Amino acid sequence: MKLSYGLLLSALSALALAAPLAQDEIKQNAASGLRLLSLEDGAEPVWKTADEKLELMKTGTKFFDVTETYERKQALAANKAKMVARETCLRTDPTPSHQSELYGALNLIAAEPMQAYLDELTSTFNNRYYNSSTGKAASDYVLKVANQFANTHDLVSVSKFEHSGFEQYSVIARIEGSTDGPVTIIGAHLDAINSQDPVNGRAPGADDDGTGVVNLMEGMRTLINFGFAPTMPIEFHWYAAGDAGLLGSQDVATKYAEDGIEVRGFMELERSGYYASGTKQVIALQADNVDADLNEFVKSLVDTYADIPWVMNTPCGYACADHASWTAAGFAAVSPYEAITGDDNPKAHTENDISRGIDWGHSIQFTKLAVSFLYELAA
Ligand SMILES: *[C@@H]1O[C@H](CO)[C@@H](O)[C@H](O)[C@H]1NC(C)=O
Repeated sequence: MKLSYGLLLSALSALALAAPLAQDEIKQNAASGLRLLSLEDGAEPVWKTADEKLELMKTGTKFFDVTETYERKQALAANKAKMVARETCLRTDPTPSHQSELYGALNLIAAEPMQAYLDELTSTFNNRYYNSSTGKAASDYVLKVANQFANTHDLVSVSKFEHSGFEQYSVIARIEGSTDGPVTIIGAHLDAINSQDPVNGRAPGADDDGTGVVNLMEGMRTLINFGFAPTMPIEFHWYAAGDAGLLGSQDVATKYAEDGIEVRGFMELERSGYYASGTKQVIALQADNVDADLNEFVKSLVDTYADIPWVMNTPCGYACADHASWTAAGFAAVSPYEAITGDDNPKAHTENDISRGIDWGHSIQFTKLAVSFLYELAA
């Protein structure tokens, strides 16, 4: 058989493309400021300059920035046996069964504290760009609030999760269980950008994702005040760099997979403070890159504990929010959202995403959902 030279060349280059990136190439490119971005499911990631990455952020293109996690994920994929099976964590069909206690806890949830945290978060910093001093100061603020709750309680600890290569850090608060695990987690991203000018533009980030940030704070305050002493541990994660390629949540989720940490379920709260006037008020469940069984459980939580119904959202897309980082790392994740996409907040990523624009009657439903998720899975 005679293979033409051209055919041979293209066969070779296909081979070269399919082969994983070499460690040296990643080191050198990253050192020269290039970023490795995964833009599509199943496709190899591509190198982009820092400016090209900023352009993608301006157009709202979603991606995983895998510069620091690519090799770690390759190593995990090669060692699947080490990963905790999702079935061992979720166990079989959880159903809401703590109504009598939980209604008491849900009654402690209030809008005023959420509003106060959000007013401070949105007015103190010009924006919360992940690689800036104000981005880091926003992490400091979240750390301070979480520490205020933790200081009142022996079972609660708060820690920084620092990331290599940029200034902002993630914050993790944990309430210990009477057993080691699996752990139940809720998350939100603490960074905020103006898509016209991500580095310098004014970005209060009230709804995106200040609401998620304060849903977690109020959930933590409520469970501590209620004296929740779970059987299994629970954690609150405030992520750095959600709008910059999900850098924070990827780093954390990859670390949990590497450490073999069992996760019962992960819930991301990404925007909860708006729905278009004239539309029905709902909790819109993201349908892609989530765990179908955990979504079924969330539906039963909404039916039992929220005052508004759930609906399934239209597809959110690749790398759409931090839950995608957990799904990609092999964990069961869900993400309830403020509205059907299209009826969601048009002011996100602009200077007009302000605290005054938040509908607290709507947002409080998501704090209720977060508290019931943690309580029912960890009690
Ligand atoms: C963050 O900024 C520093 C200093 O300008 C730069 O060297 C680094 O590459 C940036 N990090 C990312 C992830 O872009």
